[in-house]
Amino acid sequence: MKKIALLIIVIGIISCKTSEEKILEVASPNTNIKVNFNLTEVGEPYYQVFFNNKTIIDTSFLGFEFKEAKSLKNNFKIVETKTNSFNETWQMPWGEQLEVVNNYNELKVELQESVAPNRKLNIVFKIYDDGIGFRYEFPEQEQIKDVLITEENTQFNLTEDYKTFWIPGDWDIYEHLYNTTKFSEIDAISKRNHPNLAQTSIPNNAVNTPVTMVGKDGVHLSFHEAALVDYSGMTLSVDKENLLMQSTLVGSENQDYKVKQTVPFNTPWRTIQITHNAPDLIESNLIVNLNEPNKIGDVSWFKPMKYTGVWWEMHLGKSSWDMASGNHGATTENAKRFIDFSAKNNIKGVLVEGWNTGWEHWIGFEDREGVFDFVTPYPDYDLNEVVRYGKEKGVDIIMHHETSAATKTYTKQQDTAYALMQSLGIHSVKTGYVGKILPKGEYHHGQYMVNHYNNAVEKAAKYQVAINAHEPIKATGLRRTYPNTISREGLRGQEFNAWASDGGNPPEHLPIVAFTRMLAGPIDYTPGIFNIKFDEYKKENQVNTTLAQQLALYVVIYSPIQMAADLEEHYEANPKALQFIKDVGVDWRQTKVLNGEVGDYVTIAREEKETGNWFLGSITDENARTLDLDFDFLAEGESYMATIYKDGKEAHWNTNPTALDIETITVDKNSKLTIQLAEGGGAAISLIQQN
Ligand code: NOJ
Ligand code: CA
Repeated sequence: MKKIALLIIVIGIISCKTSEEKILEVASPNTNIKVNFNLTEVGEPYYQVFFNNKTIIDTSFLGFEFKEAKSLKNNFKIVETKTNSFNETWQMPWGEQLEVVNNYNELKVELQESVAPNRKLNIVFKIYDDGIGFRYEFPEQEQIKDVLITEENTQFNLTEDYKTFWIPGDWDIYEHLYNTTKFSEIDAISKRNHPNLAQTSIPNNAVNTPVTMVGKDGVHLSFHEAALVDYSGMTLSVDKENLLMQSTLVGSENQDYKVKQTVPFNTPWRTIQITHNAPDLIESNLIVNLNEPNKIGDVSWFKPMKYTGVWWEMHLGKSSWDMASGNHGATTENAKRFIDFSAKNNIKGVLVEGWNTGWEHWIGFEDREGVFDFVTPYPDYDLNEVVRYGKEKGVDIIMHHETSAATKTYTKQQDTAYALMQSLGIHSVKTGYVGKILPKGEYHHGQYMVNHYNNAVEKAAKYQVAINAHEPIKATGLRRTYPNTISREGLRGQEFNAWASDGGNPPEHLPIVAFTRMLAGPIDYTPGIFNIKFDEYKKENQVNTTLAQQLALYVVIYSPIQMAADLEEHYEANPKALQFIKDVGVDWRQTKVLNGEVGDYVTIAREEKETGNWFLGSITDENARTLDLDFDFLAEGESYMATIYKDGKEAHWNTNPTALDIETITVDKNSKLTIQLAEGGGAAISLIQQN
């Protein structure tokens, strides 16, 4: 690992009205992005951002409101400024790439009020070639001890009415469809009362992050946050007239403040990814770079893997989580069937939902505390035997902890539950938080829950357990610090296609997700549905993509755990297509985003870390397209056996979703290829090195 930290002067003093009023300017290492910082005449801090000398963020103010103290807003003076330049390359234990370059210039401005109580506040900017991050630091001081923050007032003053890809600023769930409108047409309130959400709360016209914008001249912006620790999630309130976004922290009904903290502390980073094109957004590592290095040490006990599971059958209604229904999915026998299937198909894991008692009393019940205990299997499920059988076949069981958002019970049970897992050699768990949070009055994205989710990850690490959270807090790059936070939901997943009353996820969903939600971190989307229409189970629902696109998702959507979600019998009916799932990697040495437009299409190629084989996935929205591929990313002098899984001639996500053509050719670095993608279609290619 290289590590160079240089101190260079990147700060310029541009103008000087009074001796105290100086514009401080810092540029990115390649100088394309610049940030100005200054105080107004009344000592109010503001910043501006420029990209290739064009103003991207105009004068935007920074400050805080408190429950029992005056706002931190103006009367500031600059006490000191510090600059730094940093360049390191660090390694991911697993990820989209092995090596991550972390190169930025930094400006730290130390402010102090010039009037009583003379409080101190630092603002730190890190300027990268692919965007910026800034945060507030409350340094140790006599003037403030504990703070009750009622609001953070961070502004993002836009300079264009951007084409914006957004979900509402829901305090309780991210599982909304993305909307594409001009910024000035964002209407989050119209997304209230969604029929398919177990909990939702949209207090004002705000969006959740990442929110991605595209400008007329091709500038691409995505706003998010990094290192969300002991703080509330940030939504961005929308001022349509002034093209302005302002932070609105997620609150709680149980107290009249949003964040409680003790000085010294730092806020999460407020981030803006800034690129010339859509693919560079996906290649950006800004969010992980703004997090601290691994704090939990050796994580070799977890290995990235594909998995199957007793899961889709429940969402289809073939079986049930609870036993009282008489149609219990998590039986010893059924789990063994999945183990056999996984073992046969180069799939390392099996998830078993509904294995523990309590499912008779979850959704729809108010009193959910004390119901699940995470250690007591239903009588028709022999946990020890299933784990033993899995080991015999080389297959790991993935534990399931649906908490039903009864957080006190889960917190109390964690040690026992994780200890049981450790004793069985189970190293990963899918958690779930369906329903309104208990204690009542808390929201999924407020400080109480941010701490709950983070504490679970920290505690799990002690038992060598990795967590894939559903109904989670948004990903903010903490996987760098806690690599055992392996994946999460936090979007409308595949499950909506099984039961949503609004037609499921439309073909444009994932071509938007790739440039919005996926910028935050890994996604447990659960791809690989082969039986697209599943009329045998649900006449009203279907997946709204072609089968070829379902294969492409293994490459396009990044996660170190990737489910082969469909029923065993649906895979067995289509062994040729299954071959791609058998072959595809889950851990990558490098990633190349070959093309893409937000909401339209995207093509990604990834090199498998262990083998040097490449896999490529391309997906399109409801429009058919011609995909021109250039294989110049392949290694020099190597030839590869390319198996191409593409939409058949008449394929269409609705009228003919399973028409799939499979073809094998030899390619090398100089090869080019043109492929037709159907409406809602895609293509997947495995590129296996030939010796
Ligand atoms: C919602 C999760 O997203 C889904 O995957 C899971 O099957 C159910 N909750 C039950 O835990
Ligand atoms: Ca969910």
